[in-house]
Amino acid sequence: MSSSPGPVTILLATRNPHKVGEIRAILGDEFRLLTLNDFPGAPKVIEDANTFAGNASKKAVELARWLSTAPPLSGPPCPDYVLADDSGLEVDALGGAPGVHSARFAATGQPGNSPDADNNRKLLRLLTAVPPERRRARFHCVVALTPVARDQVESASPVCYADEFELQTELFDGVCEGRILFEPRGQGGFGYDPLFVPDGCDCTFAEVGEATKNQISHRAKALRQLRFALATRAISHGGSAPAQ
Ligand code: IMP
Repeated sequence: MSSSPGPVTILLATRNPHKVGEIRAILGDEFRLLTLNDFPGAPKVIEDANTFAGNASKKAVELARWLSTAPPLSGPPCPDYVLADDSGLEVDALGGAPGVHSARFAATGQPGNSPDADNNRKLLRLLTAVPPERRRARFHCVVALTPVARDQVESASPVCYADEFELQTELFDGVCEGRILFEPRGQGGFGYDPLFVPDGCDCTFAEVGEATKNQISHRAKALRQLRFALATRAISHGGSAPAQ
């Protein structure tokens, strides 16, 4: 749906360099990918929804609205879309925790995320007495894609205006099933990767290597659907489709 010639331009609404690297590797070269580093004035969106979909949509919608109504005067061209991912680990023995709190699992009251090592230590502590057969878990990722309305002026009714962005937001869901080990293994990846063994593997996500993780991960599954949706749209608009 790009109104400009050239590749579809997408703003990745994350400040997590690991996620940016994975998203770039999974989406490939067909898109022009920008990050929040390209838009230093972008508002910081508070992730206070209690679902991955709620947080991903909130980030994508708020940033698309900002780009539409108060586009920066300098910097890169306005993106066609904002892409926001919200993700986390759901552990059955903990009733689905840490879930949407994955990034700040070990934080004790203070704002902001807690270090990965602290989160992993807390997870292992809570699972100390849980036997192997009850250590089922999954990574879950929801990606929200919101088009940036160009030449949009602030509406007299902010409620109706906000709904426009929400209505146009598409969600893509990906899950990777696996289990939690008793101790960390591997140096790659980020977050809970050293504790998570995906089904069908003997290695943790921190051991499998980037290429394998980016084939089978929750993020890869969600982003492949997104890539397919954009490719289908490009065909129906008479443009050339990104390769599958
Ligand atoms: P978000 O940035 O709010 O989506 O937080 C995601 C958090 O979930 C991260 O900080 C990690 O703790 C965890 N997480 C999400 N995806 C992954 C992954 O691919 N590997 C390991 N941890 C992940």
